Formats: sequence, C-alpha cells, structure tokens
Amino acid sequence: MLSLLCVLSALTATGHALTCKVCMVSYSTYCNGDTSMVCPKGQVCVSAYTLTTMGHSKVSEEFSRGCAPKDQCNTPGSISIPGGKIKRNTSCCFTDNCYPPTPTLPEDNFEPNGVTCATCASSYSDWCYNDKTMRCTGDENMCILESSHQYEPIDQMLALRGCATRSICDIGTQEISYGHINMTMKIKCSSASSPLYSHLVLSFTFTVAGILAVLSSWG
Ligand SMILES: *[C@@H]1O[C@H](CO)[C@@H](O)[C@H](O)[C@H]1NC(C)=O
Ligand SMILES: *[C@@H]1O[C@H](CO)[C@@H](O)[C@H](O)[C@H]1NC(C)=O
Repeated sequence: MLSLLCVLSALTATGHALTCKVCMVSYSTYCNGDTSMVCPKGQVCVSAYTLTTMGHSKVSEEFSRGCAPKDQCNTPGSISIPGGKIKRNTSCCFTDNCYPPTPTLPEDNFEPNGVTCATCASSYSDWCYNDKTMRCTGDENMCILESSHQYEPIDQMLALRGCATRSICDIGTQEISYGHINMTMKIKCSSASSPLYSHLVLSFTFTVAGILAVLSSWG
C-alpha cells in the first residue's frame, strides 16, 4: 500500500494525468467504456457499483466507470430506509485505461446498533420531516438526510431520511452531469447518539442511480 502511494504521488508530482474509461449502465455489473477521459490531476480510475432493493426485490442496479479522487477507492457503504436499502462499493486501478474490477457489496447486517434515526421520504420536495423513526443496524450508525434535485432530463426532487454508514457520509462530490443527466445531490449526516455531532454536516453527491430508482419506486 505504501509503495502504491509512493507511485501515485510520484505520478502526481511529475504531472502525469491518468486516462480512464468512462461508462454507465443500468441493470448490469459491467460496461466496456468505449470512451475515455483524461482525469483531473491526482485522480484515479474508479468503478462504482450500486444496488437498490425494496422489500426483497431489486429496484435498480447501476455500474459506472470514471475518474475519482483516490480517497474514494474501496469505500463500501449503505443507506437504509424502512423496507429499502441502497448499497454501493467502489474499486480502483492506476494505469491508463485500466479496468477496475466490479466491486463486491457489503453483506446485510440486521443486528441493531443502538442508533435511532428519523425516517421519511418525499418525491415532491428536497426536504422531508415527520415523527417516524427507525432503528439502525450493522455499521449504519449515522442518520442521513439525502436531498436531490435533478434538472435534466426532467425536473424532479427527492428527499429521504434514514440510517447510513459513515463511509457514505464521508464520500464527497456535489454535482452530477453525465450524458443527458444533470443533478445535484446533497447528503447531510449526523450521529443521533451523540449530541456533539448534531451539527456535523457533510454534503456530497451520491450516485444518480440508486436515487432515481428510489424516486421511481415511490411514484
Ligand atoms: C469493496 O470493494 C473493494 C475493492 O474491490 C474490495 O476489496 C472490498 O472487499 C469490497 N468491500 C465489501 C464490503 O465488499
Ligand atoms: C444543470 O442545471 C443547473 C440548473 O438548471 C444549471 O445551472 C447548470 O448549468 C446545469 N449544468 C449542466 C452541466 O448542464
């Protein structure tokens, strides 16, 4: 790992920018990436896989390749709402036009962890609140508020509150512009069990995929 970091920083220092395959598919765990892009300096080639389930059925599956900061490599995480779950993971590779392997997803863990979060969902607004709560499980020990606003191809909004892993809260991107999709996604997290963290606000964009799926499943 250390030598990998040395190689990476050497590459960055000499100003070499990686070229990575770019693609995005639904209901698949692989895409070829017929096009490539030159990444911003310091970024690496990343594959992201996101699976959304409601009840026991798969409502969406998305796989994408592109460039990302290297701290977003190998960041498994999940978000839960009552009856639904969004899981994702990422993998990276570090040479021009390499293919990161399709990441595996975290196992479900239904063991309560003592954290209770507010939960709600709205497909008409980028904010929601009600007095319903849910018990978090596994390593989903953060409370999340996810707000998204898609501008293109159609204008729609989504808000949801539930439980999430810290890794989801820590990923940082803000806006997605891919193909004909243009959207902003913000995620604010807090740890319900510790008042000290109640003002900890972390905003980031999440993958387009899971969210649109949740949105459509709420009609
Ligand atoms: C996430 O992906 C990385 C890279 O492919 C892999 O090493 C790791 O085991 C995956 N994590 C989980 C929880 O599946
Ligand atoms: C995305 O939509 C927003 C709001 O309409 C707009 O300000 C922004 O320029 C758009 N971005 C792209 C890349 O089209």
